[in-house]
Amino acid sequence: MKSAAFVHRPVMFQEVMDVFSPLRAGLVVDGTLGGGGHARGILELDPQRLVLGLDRDSSATAAAEKLLAGYSRRFMAMHREFDELDEVLVKACEADSKFCGAPIGLLLDLGASSPQLERAERGFSYRLEGPLDMRMDPTKGQSAAEYLDSVSLDELTLLLRDNGESRFAYRIARAVLAGRPFLSTTQLADVIKSAIPAAARRTGGHPATRVFQALRIRVNDELEKLQVVLGKAFDLLLPGGRIAVLSYHSGEDSIVKAMFHNQVTGGCTCPPRYGCVCGAVSNAAYVVRSKAPSSKEIDENPRSRSARLRAIELLDVGEAGGRRN
Ligand SMILES: C[S@@+](CC[C@H](N)C(=O)[O-])C[C@H]1O[C@@H](n2cnc3c(N)ncnc32)[C@H](O)[C@@H]1O
Repeated sequence: MKSAAFVHRPVMFQEVMDVFSPLRAGLVVDGTLGGGGHARGILELDPQRLVLGLDRDSSATAAAEKLLAGYSRRFMAMHREFDELDEVLVKACEADSKFCGAPIGLLLDLGASSPQLERAERGFSYRLEGPLDMRMDPTKGQSAAEYLDSVSLDELTLLLRDNGESRFAYRIARAVLAGRPFLSTTQLADVIKSAIPAAARRTGGHPATRVFQALRIRVNDELEKLQVVLGKAFDLLLPGGRIAVLSYHSGEDSIVKAMFHNQVTGGCTCPPRYGCVCGAVSNAAYVVRSKAPSSKEIDENPRSRSARLRAIELLDVGEAGGRRN
């Protein structure tokens, strides 16, 4: 059987290229390779550039390897998770000595890819009947159905409140516990819909949208892995290196915002009107403080509408007091 094409339209493509184009030759890690659209752009920016692409979904690494076959001497794909950045860099160096050394860039384009969302058998979409899975790497960890089988009412309510931004978190959580086990995505979507008051059902989008997103974030440990990779990147990238993150959810974006802010201020909490007098040392400067896609892009690619780009550059040793490294 022929496998379906892997089509994912890269979000804020030009804005991401603008972050990486001024960098000198060297290794850029694309931690969320997906279909390889951003990776191809980064390879095209400079013939001296190497790209190491990671994805926890083997269908993504396979698709990107195909798309980027023409760059084989400068591109390497690995079926790995981005929070393993340190180990992955060692593996890449062992596989090809050109890939040895600290990276000058890291891109994270968070969230799920279009093929993950659109293939019913992956279980990400409340609109498509399929097994309630939602794992980006279906060979590891618990599926969404398994998670719901054992979750407590308190934990699920908290998850839906924090990551699902749901006003009806408790009502939905109670209905979900009463309705389990779940064999399919649409079975869960129906339970969620019937759990909210009739008046609320008539306004806004489908209430399952945010619940599915919250479950996906939990099943894939997305927030924890984001914190780990950023912490490692601050230590592993070369001075002058750049980190760009595209997030699609307020939980992700607030982590990126806080961790970047901490690097830029060096953790200084002095009132801004007095300047920093506590001796905190800045480790980074903003390249893109916060940017949303243009309305033209949102019209052409509605999936980009919640995107938020943030980017920083790690400072050179000695500059502004210097950073570790
Ligand atoms: C929005 S897509 C990336 C699209 C890509 N920028 C492109 O141009 O096609 C996000 C990808 O990140 C992957 N991903 C999410 N979390 C990951 C993690 N912790 N480690 C590695 N890959 C991850 C997903 O499997 C998905 O393929």
